[in-house]
Amino acid sequence: MDRIRIIGGNELKGIIPISGAKNAALPLMIASLLTSDTLTLENVPHLADVEQLIRILGNHGVDISVNGRRERQGEGYSRTVHFTCRTIVDTTAPYELVSKMRASFWVIGPLLAREGHARVSLPGGCAIGTRPVDLFIEGLTALGASMEIDGGYINATAPKGGLIGARYTFPKVSVGATHVMLMAAALARGTTVIGNAAREPEVVDLADCLNAMGAKISGAGTSTITIEGVTSLSGARHRVLPDRIETGTYAMAVAMTGGDVTLEGTRADLLETALEAIRRSGADVTSTATGIRVVRNGGSIKPVDVVTDPFPGFPTDLQAQFMALMTRSTGVSHITETIFENRFMHVQELARLGAKISLSGQTAKIEGVERLRGAPVMATDLRASVSLVIAGLAAEGETMVNRVYHLDRGFERLEEKLTRCGAVVERVSD
Ligand code: UD1
Repeated sequence: MDRIRIIGGNELKGIIPISGAKNAALPLMIASLLTSDTLTLENVPHLADVEQLIRILGNHGVDISVNGRRERQGEGYSRTVHFTCRTIVDTTAPYELVSKMRASFWVIGPLLAREGHARVSLPGGCAIGTRPVDLFIEGLTALGASMEIDGGYINATAPKGGLIGARYTFPKVSVGATHVMLMAAALARGTTVIGNAAREPEVVDLADCLNAMGAKISGAGTSTITIEGVTSLSGARHRVLPDRIETGTYAMAVAMTGGDVTLEGTRADLLETALEAIRRSGADVTSTATGIRVVRNGGSIKPVDVVTDPFPGFPTDLQAQFMALMTRSTGVSHITETIFENRFMHVQELARLGAKISLSGQTAKIEGVERLRGAPVMATDLRASVSLVIAGLAAEGETMVNRVYHLDRGFERLEEKLTRCGAVVERVSD
């Protein structure tokens, strides 16, 4: 199994191209199930999760062709992928495939909308809390579907004539359930109004793509989204938005190691709250013509408290990375996790590098230390793993991050991007 070996201590200097967002690419790929025409997506990142979803979509009958040439363009490593689902050949998403990645559960929306039924295994994914599917069940039920759980599967059936538009307000904000409601309601009869919708940029990206396919969606990016159902959707060409989590991760890495890096092809408006927290920690963060520049020259890292929240709040997917940064601050900081109940697995591993962190309920108290020292550590989930990489870059000596398959799920060419900026990072295959 691959490991990542890091020799810490170097400042990061240079340019890091930001890839297309994993969390946008996945729902956009799933949207290809809604049409018999070709959906072409540009800027699709090359990640294990994307490859896994390609296998899952293939199982449903989606024909996928990847643009052979992968070239580094100004704004990143771009890849164009064509998805064509002339007919859905299988409405079952089996356990073996869905258990590997939670987002694959989302196929339930388009399968139900286009075929009138779906049998989808209950999901697996990162071990960060219970992550139930009650909101999906409630939302699709509101559109008239009957939803039954049977042997670890959900059997979903639309009423005769298809799903029916409705008003539905989520009791809790869910990104995935919002994606699924957009896709399902796009082909429903009549108008759907979703209240307390997720406002994440990836929801806006999906709505933009669906609209390009002929859907009638307004209000994406606010908490009320209106969808006027249409009878069919066509193909489209859409560019996946930049990855705000990758952007924030590298910005935090620079804030921690010091240096001067331009994150190319990304946008500050995708992560203002996180960038503000980085600024408060002492780094300069500015928008440039091509992306975002992060500079920290010599000054100390100041303690900053953050609380994770749905967008536009501080993203839970940057919580572990920000905690890594705070381990080297000059004081005491607090990080509160409000989205997932069990998302502190990185705490113990950061402690192995010398961090001083104590947990009380959903809040971590971080007492900054003068130095971290390299050690072997274990990655436990996607975002936790990259927080260990960041900490390793700033630690003295060698850090070996084990179980890096989590990193490959969400970070494209991590070693290459960091090495180009002066870091000593290499992948070790056993
Ligand atoms: C997405 C992101 C993930 C991110 C998360 C929150 C993708 C592929 N993944 O995950 O990286 O960390 O948003 O920003 O885009 N919940 C329920 N019932 C449900 C559904 C969710 O209680 O039916 C809860 C979850 O357990 C969690 C909270 O709602 O506590 C938010 O989860 P949700 O927004 O649905 O996360 P995902 O869409 O799975």
